[in-house]
Amino acid sequence: MLVYAHRGASGEFPENTLSAYEQAIIQGADGIELDAQYHKEGHWWILHDLYVDKTTNGQGRLLTLPQKNIETLYTEDDLPILRLEEALSFIDNRCPINIEIKVSSGDEKRLHVMAQNLNELLNDLVIQKTIRWQEISISSFNHLFLVAVADQIPEASIGMLIGHCPADLAQTAQTLGAKTINPCIDCLNKQLVDDAHQRGIAVWVYTVDRFEDIDFCCDIGVDAIFTNFPDRTKKHLISKG
Ligand code: G3P
Ligand code: CA
Repeated sequence: MLVYAHRGASGEFPENTLSAYEQAIIQGADGIELDAQYHKEGHWWILHDLYVDKTTNGQGRLLTLPQKNIETLYTEDDLPILRLEEALSFIDNRCPINIEIKVSSGDEKRLHVMAQNLNELLNDLVIQKTIRWQEISISSFNHLFLVAVADQIPEASIGMLIGHCPADLAQTAQTLGAKTINPCIDCLNKQLVDDAHQRGIAVWVYTVDRFEDIDFCCDIGVDAIFTNFPDRTKKHLISKG
């Protein structure tokens, strides 16, 4: 079972910062999960929340702030807030990356423009050899955006994020062209894992920090977990053998 560092090693270092990503790599995480949001002035910013207040020295809703204000924000490691390309360049092929795109709404046309823009950004990084397509997955709770990703970014592996597990989930994921279903730990069950595997879809579960949850994921055949504590999670898995 793969261990993805959720927002980096965010249980011990400020989430979605270079220090959290660096520590995830040092701790032997199999991959890093990060959150990105598209701003209308053209950049992809690394931020989990709608508002910048919790993790930066600023205030307000990220997507309504002018870009010139966003550029002055500092995160909790006293470095400027990251753009997606800066985060990916920093990781620089050292481990696979799951990019979670936070997108609350948008009509189909806008979602396609966003996916097209993301494809251009990622393609440039592939050409620069900063990332490899086979190590990039793109996930979102917004499944309409994932349809646009399937259309615009055929090289990327798609992860279908969900907070609940309807019975026909695996079939929906297959129709969407998802390579992974990414359910929350609270709605996980063995039937879901079996259904997904029968369709050749992997199951990546968030956010798994408790040892009993790690064990449950292992027991039912989960393929990857997202955890805030990659170090102790890797050690626990090794101790289980
Ligand atoms: O991608 C898994 C997980 O990060 C989704 O939830 O709220 O932590 O972004 P959240
Ligand atoms: Ca996330």
